[in-house]
Amino acid sequence: MNRHALLSCRLRINGASHDVEDVHFGDTLLEVLRDRLGLVGTKQGCEDGQCGACTVLIDGQPVNSCLELAAETVGREIVTIEGYNRRDGSLTPLQEALVRQAAIQCGFCIPGIVLAAESLLAERPDATEDDIRTEMDGNLCRCTGYSSILAAILEVAETRRGS
Ligand code: FES
Ligand code: FES
Repeated sequence: MNRHALLSCRLRINGASHDVEDVHFGDTLLEVLRDRLGLVGTKQGCEDGQCGACTVLIDGQPVNSCLELAAETVGREIVTIEGYNRRDGSLTPLQEALVRQAAIQCGFCIPGIVLAAESLLAERPDATEDDIRTEMDGNLCRCTGYSSILAAILEVAETRRGS
């Protein structure tokens, strides 16, 4: 398909349908989320699949939205950090753990880390420290040195399995 063709796309995002007009076939999901729908909680980092700042969930799986064509996500369930956040403003247990462990400095990486970690914990409730290190290696953080992020995710994993 011509990358410059204009399309109308109905995207399922955070449980609601969004009709987006005049989408170029080559537009990434990251571009549509941020520039067309104002969902700027999804961060724009390297735009090259290297940093994980743009992570969203598609059908429950963490995906770098900078590498995903928006037109190819039609019919799939997309969750961004706005959809993950509680409407009353309270923090989820994972967000509380990140705060408690002082794992947030500039915060740029955190939306992607939260969504990637929740997906990991849903699929691997028995995740060990090594599992978390391996599975989270696509989400970079330039501030914290990772140990506090790892501690927060491990804290939630251990709490959920009652150990
Ligand atoms: S902005 Fe998508 S991986 Fe860096
Ligand atoms: S807290 Fe700054 S990039 Fe992670």
